[in-house]
This record gives sequence, structure tokens and C-alpha cells, in this order.
Amino acid sequence: MNILVLGGGGREHSLAWAVKQNPKCDRLIVAPGNAGIAAIAECATLDAGKPALVVRFCEENAVDFVIIGPEAPLAAGVADALEDAGIAAFGPSAAAARLESSKAFTKEVCDACGAPTAAWARFTDPTPAKAHVRANGAPIVIKADGLAAGKGVIVAQTVDEALEAVEAMFAGEFGAAGASVVIEEFMAGEEASFFVLVDGENVLPIGTAQDHKRVGEGDTGPNTGGMGAYSPAPVMTPDLQEQVLAQIIRPTVAEMARRGCPFRGVLYAGLMIDGGQARLVEYNVRFGDPEAQVLMMRLGAQALDLMLACAQGRLDDCAVNWADDHAITVVLAAQGYPGTYEKGSEIRGLEALPVDSRRMVFHAGTARADGRLVASGGRVLNVTARGDSLAEARDAAYAMVDAIDWPEGFCRRDIGWRAL
Ligand code: AMP
Ligand code: GLY
Repeated sequence: MNILVLGGGGREHSLAWAVKQNPKCDRLIVAPGNAGIAAIAECATLDAGKPALVVRFCEENAVDFVIIGPEAPLAAGVADALEDAGIAAFGPSAAAARLESSKAFTKEVCDACGAPTAAWARFTDPTPAKAHVRANGAPIVIKADGLAAGKGVIVAQTVDEALEAVEAMFAGEFGAAGASVVIEEFMAGEEASFFVLVDGENVLPIGTAQDHKRVGEGDTGPNTGGMGAYSPAPVMTPDLQEQVLAQIIRPTVAEMARRGCPFRGVLYAGLMIDGGQARLVEYNVRFGDPEAQVLMMRLGAQALDLMLACAQGRLDDCAVNWADDHAITVVLAAQGYPGTYEKGSEIRGLEALPVDSRRMVFHAGTARADGRLVASGGRVLNVTARGDSLAEARDAAYAMVDAIDWPEGFCRRDIGWRAL
């Protein structure tokens, strides 16, 4: 079959890499892709935010199955348009994607189905929002209701910081996403991510992971899109996974169906674990980046069969074959990220690295310039390895990191510390 992957980051490179290994895949197109993806797939130019253009591209290229990587095309209704055109797609409808695109919607769903999460209130006006902050004290969490490219959340340690965040959001710092603001109770604990496939009704767990959001070692410095991840996350014990399925995920899936917007795709639950109990921090309606890289490394070719079954409502027939192993990914980013950084610096040494089913460098932000490989984004490479233990996977990943010649890049040297 002919497959189109939408997106061009490390997540999409790992999705394309897994799909490509499956003999069902004939032609593989990624839009827009990047320099690493270009080595295994055709890269195409396509505005994924325009559902009609995506449908036309699929018709012109006889695409049978579309895997939608990022959240923006989902929120824009690309999965809906493909379904209307009779083209199979992996990813939820725009109505179901509200689990990521509206924090207030997610909170209402949690309340309706009894899923444990932080206490919350929604405001469309700064005066009552500030009164709420003063009444509740700090720490407290201020969130732009809508999509803000992962940046619309402020965990305020003081009341002053919270009041400033409220003002900034209503003043338009996050654009329309901040016209409505959700204020939440601060939850203490350890964060972990749980990934399940959902076909509207059936739920299939496909792995746990932990991300490293802060830019600096020891979880210091500003938040980023994620500086590294590993899977599995030992904090997500089998008992805790059962608890999360029973108390959070299955009730959410049932509530979405009840509301007439059944969820299909990957549901990524961000959890806070404290005293052996998990509460929901947020849902995402797509794979995490860089969490997908470790999940795809562990799933390999079966990822395509699972995503197809998910899109076709056949998950009750599916099982996941797990190697009892560990995967880790280390993000190499351009110096200055997540602030301002330069583009265009040359990256050397990748060709000499051995790559196989246990070691892979996924490209997140790279391009070709006069035949040279150059950095073209903030997060640039995801150096990924599997091992029988997390320590073995980590050593293999950092050995590759050390063999890459890119003086303008940096990485965290402590990915995996919580589990090691
Ligand atoms: P979100 O975009 O909702 O995942 O929030 C980004 C990050 O903010 C999360 O990964 C948490 O680290 C933190 N966070 C969000 N909500 C809360 C909360 N209610 N309590 C504590 N931390 C939170
Ligand atoms: N790595 C966090 C995310 O993809 O949202």
C-alpha cells in the first residue's frame, strides 16, 4: 500500500522508519520530511493544515493510508476530510482532538467520567482569574486553554508569578489560545507518559515513557519540546497501568463515544504519580516527540499493522509483541535552544555510524545544503538505541553522540537518570 506520513520532525522520521520495515508498505511519502527522512522516503511539499489539499494530494498519488504526526492538522480536521473522501487515516477527528486542543474540554470530560485530575476553573476575564489565584495561593498552574505549541503552561511558584501569567495570557501572549485561561491545582509527584491506541471503542496499550522537558541536566532551566526519552518507564508498574486504564483512559474513551465524538488514534496520557496513585495532567492526541522515537524503536514494523487496525476499528483482534528490552533517545539541539539559535551549521560523522534495528539516528531538524548535512531547527537529531537494560541502551546512545561531529550542538548527558 501507498502511505503518506504528515510531519517533518524526529517523530515522523521514527514513524516512517518503522512503517518502511513492514512489507505492506510499497510507496512511502512524507510531507514535508527532512534530510534524514529523504534517505528512506519520498519527501513532498504539502500544506498539512489544509484538509482539502491533503485529500487532493492523496487522490493524485493513490495514497491508501495517512499517518498524521502533529496535532495541528488533526485540530484542523484533516482526519475528518480523509474519512469523508474514503481514505484511511490514523488520527482523531477534530472534535475528538479537542482532548488536546482545549484544556477546558479535557477537564470537563474528566469531570464527567470521574477521571482523577487536578482541581480546575476556567476564566475568560482577568479579574475573577486573579481573585481565584489569590484565594488559592501558590504553587498554582496557569494554562492557555487552546493550542500554544506546547508553551501555554506556567507552573507558578509564587502568587505574583501567577498573577503575571494571567495578565500575560489575557494580554495575548499566546494569541487566541489565551483568550480562555484554565487555572489548576498544582500536583506534586513524578511524571510519566502512557500511550494507548484507541479505535473508538477498544483500547490497546503500546508502551510507557518518560520525557525530559527541561533543557539542562538535573532538570534545570527552561522547558523545551523534550530533550530525551526512554521506554519503558519503570514508575508505570503493571498495577499502575491497570489503574490508569480503569480510572482514566477507559472512562475517557467511553465518555467521548457517549458525546458522539469517539476517539480514534493514539491517546497519550501525561500522568502525575504520587503515593502509588496516578492523576491526569493532560492528554495529547498524537505520539510524543521524542517519545515516539523510543516507542517506534521498540515496536518496529508491527507499528504499521497496529496503526492500520486502529484506523479500521479492529484493535480487539490485536496484540503487541514486546521484546523485553529498553530504548533511549538523546536529543541533540542547536546551542541556544529553546531560545534563539543559528541554523545552517554543518553536521559530520553520521555516515560512519552503524545503524540497525538497535541503533538509529532520527533526524528532527536537518536539511541538505550543497550536499552537506546542516542543522535547520532547534532540536536537530535524536540519537536512539535499544539494549537489554536501560544502562546498555544509554551507553550505546551516548557512544553514537560522541562520534557525531557537530560543535554547534549540545545535549543533556543525564537522559534516563530517574530510571538509572
Ligand atoms: P501540559 O502542557 O498540560 O502537559 O503541561 C506542561 C507541563 O506542566 C507538564 O508536563 C507538567 O510538568 C506541568 N504541569 C501541568 N499541569 C500541572 C499541574 N496541575 N500540576 C503540576 N504540574 C503541572
Ligand atoms: N515530548 C512532549 C510532547 O510531545 O508533547
